[in-house]
Amino acid sequence: EKAGFDHFMLKEIHEQPKAYRDTMGSRISINGSRVTLNELSMTPEEIRNISRVHIVACGTAYHAGMVGKYVIEKLARIPVETDVASEYRYRSPIITKDTLVIVVSQSGETADTLAALREAKRCGARVMAITNVVGSSVAREADDIITTWAGPEIAVASTKAYTSQLIAFYLFGLHLAQTLGTQSITEIEETIAALKELPTQVEAILEQAEAIKGVAEEMAKHDNLFFIGRGLDYAVALEGSLKLKEISYIHSEAYAAGELKHGTLALIEDGVPVIALATQHELLEKTVSNIKEVKARGANVLGIAVEGEMELQKSVDSTFVIPKTLDVLSPALAVVPLQLLSYYASLARGNDVDKPRNLAKSVTVE
Ligand code: F6R
Repeated sequence: EKAGFDHFMLKEIHEQPKAYRDTMGSRISINGSRVTLNELSMTPEEIRNISRVHIVACGTAYHAGMVGKYVIEKLARIPVETDVASEYRYRSPIITKDTLVIVVSQSGETADTLAALREAKRCGARVMAITNVVGSSVAREADDIITTWAGPEIAVASTKAYTSQLIAFYLFGLHLAQTLGTQSITEIEETIAALKELPTQVEAILEQAEAIKGVAEEMAKHDNLFFIGRGLDYAVALEGSLKLKEISYIHSEAYAAGELKHGTLALIEDGVPVIALATQHELLEKTVSNIKEVKARGANVLGIAVEGEMELQKSVDSTFVIPKTLDVLSPALAVVPLQLLSYYASLARGNDVDKPRNLAKSVTVE
């Protein structure tokens, strides 16, 4: 059942190229010029009437939602707020009829997410679900569904479900952009072409898993480490940090790289591992200066960099290189080495990778 892999998590990490392909599937036109989300009942007029979007989810699905916010704002220019589901209901969110609430849930059974969905519907919002389980409670109650075709996810630590949620957001962002005319035809075609490259690019990353293993074994000797990044890299940093804590039990913090000097820099001392994500072209220079700040305090920096960015490679102690893609799509690549890092760190510490302590795969209590 683990198809020759030692753990479900490793199997599921390796299933990501297929999960990307299946989730894109027939939703991209054969000539690569359009996205077609036939499953959505929203009319173009209803889409034009959306004045704001709320994305609500828990844990890893929430981190996918952070990427979703960026994608929708960039491609469709609609303002988006993100909330963790356990907070959403209690802050009296402003939900109107022209609010689209997107709930994201692998299982479709998370109690807080379901409660947020019900609250949004009670307030008259339209609710769209991104879920991996057809027929789940969330899928049954939402007005619209984008199913992620990741297949069953058994390991408690979510991997292929998260990346498939990213693909769903890319498709939905493009769908909005096509309807609203916020991206040119050329821009849409370019994004679709880059999207179609992702599965092969993930395969290339997976071929380098051994390189990550060595780094992970070294990191497993530490009790504290940091992830830093800006923009989309910050969203990925949060997910990398959650994954590491969840299965290796190593404490880590994810920080927006520019925010370090407002307090957290005090924790950087000799030898502290810092994983610096620097995949965003426009933010590269700023991120490099943040890397220099931690280097000056003795940090041991692993950079996650895009192929060809030699400038970054000069400022870090070691680098893991990911293939080149559009900045907006880079989370779908950059998270993969972080998943592997957590996996191998957990293994090095002798933990039960697939069933970490205190956690359940599906959280059905609030
Ligand atoms: C982390 C993890 C959890 C889930 C969260 C939401 O690896 O798996 O953080 O992402 O409990 O679960 P779903 O997506 O089923 O609503």
